[in-house]
Amino acid sequence: ARKIIIDTDPGQDDAVAILLALGSPEEIDLLGLTTVAGNVPLARTQTNARITCEVAGRTEVKIHAGSDAPLERPLVTAEHVHGRSGLDGPELFDPTMPLQDQHGVDFIIDTLRAEAPGTVTLCPLGPLTNIAAAFRRAPDIIDRVMEIVMMGGAYFEVGNITPAAEFNIYVDPEAAREVFASGVTLTMMPLDVTHKALTTRVRVEAFRNLGTRVGNFTAEMLDFFERFDVEKYGSEGGPLHDPCVIAYLIRPELFSGRHVNVEIEVTSPLTLGMTVADWWGVTDRAPNAMFMNEVDAEGFFILLTERLGRL
Ligand code: BDR
Ligand code: CA
Repeated sequence: ARKIIIDTDPGQDDAVAILLALGSPEEIDLLGLTTVAGNVPLARTQTNARITCEVAGRTEVKIHAGSDAPLERPLVTAEHVHGRSGLDGPELFDPTMPLQDQHGVDFIIDTLRAEAPGTVTLCPLGPLTNIAAAFRRAPDIIDRVMEIVMMGGAYFEVGNITPAAEFNIYVDPEAAREVFASGVTLTMMPLDVTHKALTTRVRVEAFRNLGTRVGNFTAEMLDFFERFDVEKYGSEGGPLHDPCVIAYLIRPELFSGRHVNVEIEVTSPLTLGMTVADWWGVTDRAPNAMFMNEVDAEGFFILLTERLGRL
């Protein structure tokens, strides 16, 4: 199984990504979860990560709270999408499983130093603050990362927080710039892909029909989550962004894209956080990211339903 650290800001779609990983032990060895401020402030994202693991009955998962604000900017949150708790929809409870004492950034650094070089994959599902902070503090770990597979960015399908930017990159563009310039092998799940992984009624009912606690919890989260996109954009369902990252680790053949150069805008107020992808190769800038833009959505939801059914 592939060793991974999930760095996350749950978020209903983050929670589904965590559940997908927990339901896939043959392919995925989850070394730990680190939380970051993003969709909601840090106190909530770490609570939501613990709620998610408890719902799956997996209270042994190591959860470390990380950064509570972007590297160089005040935090921007997304309660308008995820609700006040970040995990609105199901009835929430106070989790009792422990939060680890160690800071998430230290956990990332120590884990990469302890494991054999080239064997740990980082899976950021929120702003890239923790990853960039770890790289800043311990540059020796950069070469030890196997790959970063992340949710973030957009090019043809631009803009869910501003007309030009996707939320995760917009919240901490300096962090994103550093990660994209790090030289680590990078695979992106941008809006171009995640807006093709929509939670239709039939797909949400398939989760509910599992008849399990995880299935009901997921359906209730997604009932709430889809409201934003359906009501605002008339889309047929909510985009299941973050689970695309974990699905890629299990079934890479579900996704396709192009290896291109991607640069992050960090100064322009108009286009802050834009992921400028050289899709047509019009510069001589070296490719630094695999930019996904297609997904077999049917296959993706079949995989997701099957794996959540194992929990
Ligand atoms: C990303 O932002 C968050 O709202 C979601 O959890 C996802 O990671 C989509 O832009
Ligand atoms: Ca997220």
